[in-house]
Amino acid sequence: MARKFFVGGNFKMNGSLESQKKIIEALNAAKLNTEKVEVVVAPQALYLLNTRAELRKDIGVAAQNVFSKAHGAYTGENSAQSLADAGITYTLTGHSERRTIFKESDEFVADKTQYAIEQGLIVIACIGETLAEREADKTIEVCVRQLNALAAKVKDWSKVVIAYEPVWAIGTGKTATPEQAQEVHVEIRKWANEKLGAQIADALRIIYGGSVNGGNCKDFLKFEDIDGFLVGGASLKPEFHNIINVHN
Ligand code: G3H
Repeated sequence: MARKFFVGGNFKMNGSLESQKKIIEALNAAKLNTEKVEVVVAPQALYLLNTRAELRKDIGVAAQNVFSKAHGAYTGENSAQSLADAGITYTLTGHSERRTIFKESDEFVADKTQYAIEQGLIVIACIGETLAEREADKTIEVCVRQLNALAAKVKDWSKVVIAYEPVWAIGTGKTATPEQAQEVHVEIRKWANEKLGAQIADALRIIYGGSVNGGNCKDFLKFEDIDGFLVGGASLKPEFHNIINVHN
């Protein structure tokens, strides 16, 4: 099955109204290969609505985080129901910054993922190992643990994109080599095949994140299990357009 290439731009907690406006204007004016590539940007929660209103419609908008309940006394959280209501049709879950800084557990991430799917969102579910875990040869063990937690809750895998993001490669300029990424992506697909069945495994998009930029993105294309990128720092720069147009 042909999987549509996926490029996400995670702006993290960056930007101002002014810089956000410039990014949107540049994306709107750019010639982007959105026929071939599904493109999504994830601004801070504060900028979700104006981004959705002003950004071209062939680019999706994602929340960076979401909660597992509809509404109520959950101060500071994002409701998946409200996101869907506002046309924000994607969300990230389980980004390593959420897991490490905010101590989100595998189960919590899985709950949020399933709840967001139930509300009609597409979820970019992030997994990945720390440097210490890689050095202890635990990369696959950690990824499989995080995936098993997701599998215990998620019912519709057609609404999930898995982002493999080795924590040691995030924002460090230290990219996993395409070979290292492919090695893990193969294991993730193998896991999906065994746990979820061949059809789901074949259709599941597994994207790589960690210091992807305009200069290195093409190197990943030769590996068939790398179905796109989740881009942090470079998504705030004009080179994001080159990453989206990586096939050109
Ligand atoms: O969500 C994106 C990842 O954390 C990658 O960030 O491209 O700045 O390394 P980075």
